[in-house]
Amino acid sequence: MIIRTHQLNVGYNGFTVVSGIDLQVRSGRIIVVLGQSGCGKTTLLKTLIGLLPPISGSVEFDGRPVDFRSEESLQRLFLRIGVLYQNGALLNSLNLYQNIALPITMHHPVIHQNIRAEMVTNRLRQVGLAADMERYPAELSGGMRKRAALARAMILDPEVIFCDEPSAGLDPITASGLDELMLNLKALLGITFVVVTHELRSIERIADEVVVIEGGSIRFNGPYAQLQHSEDPFIKAFFLKQQADSRGMHP
Ligand SMILES: Nc1ncnc2c1ncn2[C@@H]1O[C@H](COP(=O)(O)OP(=O)(O)OP(=O)(O)O)[C@@H](O)[C@H]1O
Ligand SMILES: [Mg+2]
Repeated sequence: MIIRTHQLNVGYNGFTVVSGIDLQVRSGRIIVVLGQSGCGKTTLLKTLIGLLPPISGSVEFDGRPVDFRSEESLQRLFLRIGVLYQNGALLNSLNLYQNIALPITMHHPVIHQNIRAEMVTNRLRQVGLAADMERYPAELSGGMRKRAALARAMILDPEVIFCDEPSAGLDPITASGLDELMLNLKALLGITFVVVTHELRSIERIADEVVVIEGGSIRFNGPYAQLQHSEDPFIKAFFLKQQADSRGMHP
């Protein structure tokens, strides 16, 4: 298991958002996290990536407990993961090249500029943006920004990439391109993904396993095929709603 949590309770200022989270993420898999807006998906992700100390419980990365009070322990984690934030979070004052290079500059400030250039151009090529490295985020389309954010999340060869709503706001074709990219990275590099998404089509394409959060805890955790045949009324209702949404029946 690359990630394991034990009875994790997370929230803010002592106020619990989700509790009793026992997660086991196997290496090289794509885990999709589902649930209604505000149920705590981003909050859980923040703890898994070391940014929000849990109220109680523990997180293990590759068999080692993450110590949220230890800068060394957190840095160990940061060096092995990449994050695509819900809002993209590219810096507007930096061009694409500079944005992608940012994690290198932060974590390896003395690296030779030629090596850095090679790393950045490789990643930009992988996401199809090699020709755009001098452009600024404001000059890119939404889909290009997402791909750029993915390139940045990948820059330090992470073992796990966390993506918060990667295809939100994208048209179906661009969204499916992003899914393809994740599937390729999983197949070629064995990268593990933890992806928060609402998009049913995306879930069908990429999910090896699904975690559904509802009412402050895990409602379902298992293979996607099992979720599809779940008799749980909440899960059934969720699928019907998503199917209706993807047909445009609920604007
Ligand atoms: N920094 C914060 N301080 C206090 N409460 C917060 C903070 N961030 C989020 N919350 C609260 O935590 C709860 C869960 O929020 P979270 O962002 O995790 O939801 P989500 O499942 O990611 O929703 P969405 O699908 O809309 O992104 C909400 O009630 C929210 O108001
Ligand atoms: Mg969120």
